[in-house]
Amino acid sequence: MNSPAGVALTGLGVAVPTKVITNADLERTLDTSNDWIVSRTGIRERHWAAPDESLASLCAVAARQAMDQAGVTATELDAIILGTVTPDHRLPSTSCEVQALLGAPQAIPLDVAAACPGWIYSLAVAEGFIAAGRAKTVLVLGAEKLSTITDMEDRSTAILFGDGAGATIMQRTERTDRRILSIVLGADGTLIDLLLIPGGGSLHPMSPEVIEERSQFMKMKGREVFKAAVVAMANACSEALAEAGLTKDDVDLLVPHQANIRIIEATAKRTGISMDRVMVNVDRFGNTSSASIPIALDQAVAEGRLRPGSVLLTVSFGAGFTWGAAVIRW
Ligand code: COA
Repeated sequence: MNSPAGVALTGLGVAVPTKVITNADLERTLDTSNDWIVSRTGIRERHWAAPDESLASLCAVAARQAMDQAGVTATELDAIILGTVTPDHRLPSTSCEVQALLGAPQAIPLDVAAACPGWIYSLAVAEGFIAAGRAKTVLVLGAEKLSTITDMEDRSTAILFGDGAGATIMQRTERTDRRILSIVLGADGTLIDLLLIPGGGSLHPMSPEVIEERSQFMKMKGREVFKAAVVAMANACSEALAEAGLTKDDVDLLVPHQANIRIIEATAKRTGISMDRVMVNVDRFGNTSSASIPIALDQAVAEGRLRPGSVLLTVSFGAGFTWGAAVIRW
C-alpha cells in the first residue's frame, strides 16, 4: 500500500555477537567444506551469540545507536515494534524486555513474528501506528538468535544462519525529500511445511519425543524455498516500485534479504537491477533473518552507497511463506 502518512527513517543501529564462526570452524564439526558453502551460498562466516547473550540486550545496543543518530531519547519512543522469531522467552514478548532495558515505560511493545521479512512487516505496523495518530516516534527492530533454533547436526541448515540485531527509528515527517514511499506485504500460508519448526510450540510442546526427533529445530526444503524466494521477491520489488510511482531505473541501491548470494543475484536479474546497485554482505553474516536488512543498510551507509536522497529498494522473503518490499527515499 502506498505510504499514507509522512514517515521517515531517522536513525539506524546494529549489534552482532562478538563470536565469529567461519566455514573452517564448521568443517571441524560437519561433513561439509568451505568450497561447498561458498559456492552454494556465498557465506564465509557468521556471528553466533553466547548462551548468556540475550536477544533483548542485542536489541538495546542497536536501539541506543539508532536513537543517538536520530537525536531521540528513550522517553520519546511511543512504541517498540520488534520483528523476531527467536524471542528470549515464549512469554512475555522480547519487546517488553527491550522497553525495560531502554527505560521507555511509555512505549507500547509488540513482537511481530513474520520470519525473515519481520523488519519490513514491523515497518508497516509502525507506519500504521503513526498514520492512526497512536505514535509519532517508533523504534523498529529486526533481531534474531537463529543459532538457537538451528540443528547444528544438519549440514544443510547449520551453515546458513547467523545472529544479530538491527534497529531503526521511524518518525512522522512533513519532509518530502526523505520518507518511506511504499511498503508491500504478502504471504502464502499454504506453504508452511517447506520451512518450519515442527516441535516445541503449543501443538507439540517440548517432550522427550520432540528432543529425540530434534523437531525443536528448523526443517527446510532448501530447493523449494530457493525457487519461491526468487519469484516472490522479484514480484514484491515490482509491486513496491509501482506503488511508489518509480521504475527499476530510479533505484540507487537494492538491499535484499541476505539469505544466499545465488538468491540475491537471481532476484536482482529478474528485477532488472545490475549487481553494482545491489548490497551484499551475506558473506560476513550469513542469514540473520529479520536482522539482515538493517545490518546491510548500516554497512551500505558506512560505505557511502546510501546517501541522503538515495532511492532504496529493499525486499525480503521467509518462512510462512511471507514476503515484503519497501521503497524509501533515504
Ligand atoms: N555441505 C556439503 N554438502 C551439502 C551440504 C553442506 N553443507 N548441505 C547439503 N549438501 C548436499 C546434499 O546432501 C545433497 O547431496 P546429494 O546430492 O548427495 O543428496 C547436495 O549437497 C545438494 O543438495 P541441495 O539441497 O539440492 O543443494 P542446493 O544447491 O539446493 O543448496 C541450499 C542447498 C540450502 C544452500 C539452497 O537450497 C538454499 O540456499 N536454499 C534456500 C535456503 C534459504 O535461504 N532459506 C531461508 C530463506 S529466508
